[in-house]
Amino acid sequence: MTERYVMAIDQGTTSTRCILFDHSGRLVSVTQREHKQHFPRPGWVEHDAMEIWRNVERIAPEAIAQAGATPDQVAAIGIANQRETTLLWDRRTGEPIGRAIVWQDTRTDALVEEMAAEPFAEEIHRRCGIPVATYFSAPRIRWFLDNTPDLRERAERGDVLFGTMESWLIWNLTGGPDGGRHLTDVTNASRTLLMDLATLAWDDELLAYFGVPRAMLPEIWPSTAVYGTATRVVPGVRIAAALGDQQAALFGQTSFAPGEAKCTYGTGSFLLLNTGTEPVVSTHGLLTTVGYQIGDEPAVYALEGSIAITGALVQWFRDGLGLIATAPEIETLARTVDDNGGCYIVPAFSGLFAPHWRSEARGIIVGLTSYITKGHLARAVLEATGWQTREVVDAMNADSGIALKSLKVDGGMTADNLLMQFIADVLDVPVVRPMAAETVSLGAAYAAGLAVGYWPDLEGLRRNWHRAGQWLPAMDPGHRETEYDNWRRAVERTFDWIR
Ligand code: G3P
Repeated sequence: MTERYVMAIDQGTTSTRCILFDHSGRLVSVTQREHKQHFPRPGWVEHDAMEIWRNVERIAPEAIAQAGATPDQVAAIGIANQRETTLLWDRRTGEPIGRAIVWQDTRTDALVEEMAAEPFAEEIHRRCGIPVATYFSAPRIRWFLDNTPDLRERAERGDVLFGTMESWLIWNLTGGPDGGRHLTDVTNASRTLLMDLATLAWDDELLAYFGVPRAMLPEIWPSTAVYGTATRVVPGVRIAAALGDQQAALFGQTSFAPGEAKCTYGTGSFLLLNTGTEPVVSTHGLLTTVGYQIGDEPAVYALEGSIAITGALVQWFRDGLGLIATAPEIETLARTVDDNGGCYIVPAFSGLFAPHWRSEARGIIVGLTSYITKGHLARAVLEATGWQTREVVDAMNADSGIALKSLKVDGGMTADNLLMQFIADVLDVPVVRPMAAETVSLGAAYAAGLAVGYWPDLEGLRRNWHRAGQWLPAMDPGHRETEYDNWRRAVERTFDWIR
């Protein structure tokens, strides 16, 4: 076989990576570039889409060169991307309209609050599986259209295109203004508030409600399918998969059976439970979302517990407060003390996501006394991730009626042993990490490889999954309940902060 590798492009919140995998799912080469986070006002978060595209232009050929390969040895590309981040661009020039509005951005707060109070909001939730919240794309498209002169007319004429990051990259890779393909996949479309979860198509009533012209929307495709062939950067290579990064991680963890779950610890953390080919409606604050769709097979759905801020809190501790120089140092600092000293941090920087969905919530630190050192704060930072996981696991157990028996984890934060042990302790179940740490990229690669026959079936992929680490619960149950109670009281204090 001349095609020896599959390439994954993982366009994440803080960086873009490009990874080549071989047939056994082994990582052969990896390149990465961070992009700038723009915070122009409190609650606003933006990315420069052109900077991100330039990063891809650079790191994709580098990854191939690092493997000692040539583009014709790459069987296909799969894309995983930060979801919901909303971008508009000019079809003729390829120029973005301003900066992309990132999924953490809360500028649409007022609009969302108004819409969420209307009776139609319930119907939207039922149809899309997700509530009207600042997290999703449609209110941001509306914000662009309302705040940029002449934009609506241009969008109605089809001169301005909307996409999340996978659409932007696919359009550019397949030619950009010269015939680029404008499409998205079902998983990404399921995060817009514009797609009907049952039909997997854009819904006219929702488009009218949010005031989004159909002409600007990409075509919705399955997650695995040959979308087109790259004409730029990696010419001749087929682009054969796209999934939101969290769904890609579900795929990479080979959680293909109903009842299988994973949690990815990145900027935010996202717990997804495969619920099979029927969408399950949550009554406990979880999202119903598309997990993946392989070719023309029925879509597989998932229940999702989304936590907005986990790794981003460590980042803030490092960059915003300057208390550590590198992210891994948080563990060392936290180990200088035995406990949190009575201090709790609730990182409601973008409101609180699951299971609360309170966009008006703002972050707090409680329990400060002169006893508290930066070591205690470091502990409280890590513990915030543990307790937020506990909240979504509780919701998941309540929705599914089955208690989770163990949790498969992945993502950058899983390198932190103190945190992994804390999560096992507060969930009271074993936490398990696979050998393949790059689960998001692996999932995108698997999906693309399946589409072009590089891998024959899901069973073959499952055989590549091997356990690398396990943490067993060891916390005293009484202590766990007291601490959880303290956490919940701290969470209550984040609501109604801004009047
Ligand atoms: O929904 C947002 C999520 O897709 C972001 O993931 O890993 O880029 O922070 P990540």
